[in-house]
Amino acid sequence: MHYDPRVDLKPAPLKFNPLNALVGPRPIGWITTLDPAGRINLAPFSYFNAFSSDPPIVAFGPNARASGGAKDTLRNVREVPEFTASIVSAPLARAMNETSRELAYGENEMAAAGLTSAASINVRPPRVAEARAALECRVFEIVDLPCGRDGRTSHIVIGEVVGIYIDDALIANGRVDSLALAQVARLGYNDYTNVASLYEMRRPD
Ligand SMILES: Cc1cc2nc3c(=O)[nH]c(=O)nc-3n(C[C@H](O)[C@H](O)[C@H](O)COP(=O)(O)O)c2cc1C
Repeated sequence: MHYDPRVDLKPAPLKFNPLNALVGPRPIGWITTLDPAGRINLAPFSYFNAFSSDPPIVAFGPNARASGGAKDTLRNVREVPEFTASIVSAPLARAMNETSRELAYGENEMAAAGLTSAASINVRPPRVAEARAALECRVFEIVDLPCGRDGRTSHIVIGEVVGIYIDDALIANGRVDSLALAQVARLGYNDYTNVASLYEMRRPD
């Protein structure tokens, strides 16, 4: 099939918008932010990736809430323009999913999911202590995306990475051991995959 998503996001026989199944697997940025009162907020974002290595730049995409308002994470980075992106390893998948609950503004999803915080060095929001790696980021820019047909707006929050935490046990021969990190990634629908195998392919000279 071929279709124009400006006309219909999921023409038959599609039952759902397939974009997330096609652009996947996507890594998950487990984003911690603070509100102006210093209260912790944690939520997973699979519209997340790195876009530059020097300076290191990452971005995540908070979509509007189904009710139309801004998610707490977006509200917070507008007020306190820093975040951490903890990396989700396979044993943390269920806890990560728990933190996607839309709790009331100011309620701490990290504590609600039985997780603990570890202080960051270069930004105010802490990281998830149980995560084996995390990026400390300063907001570089927040991009307003055009309205969807339902009138809701999404955003891209771009951050400069100003601190990187890696569990020393993950480092072997000067590299991060990707199999030991066992990252969880998101596909479409409710599908996930874990990094459980890899192969090396060198670029042509
Ligand atoms: C694996 C996973 C990935 C998600 N990715 C996104 C995303 O990229 N953008 C988004 O707006 N919501 C995403 N969500 C939903 C948010 O995590 C959810 O709306 C959360 O309650 C937002 O929290 P907040 O209001 O505290 O910011 C995702 C949920 C899960 C479980």
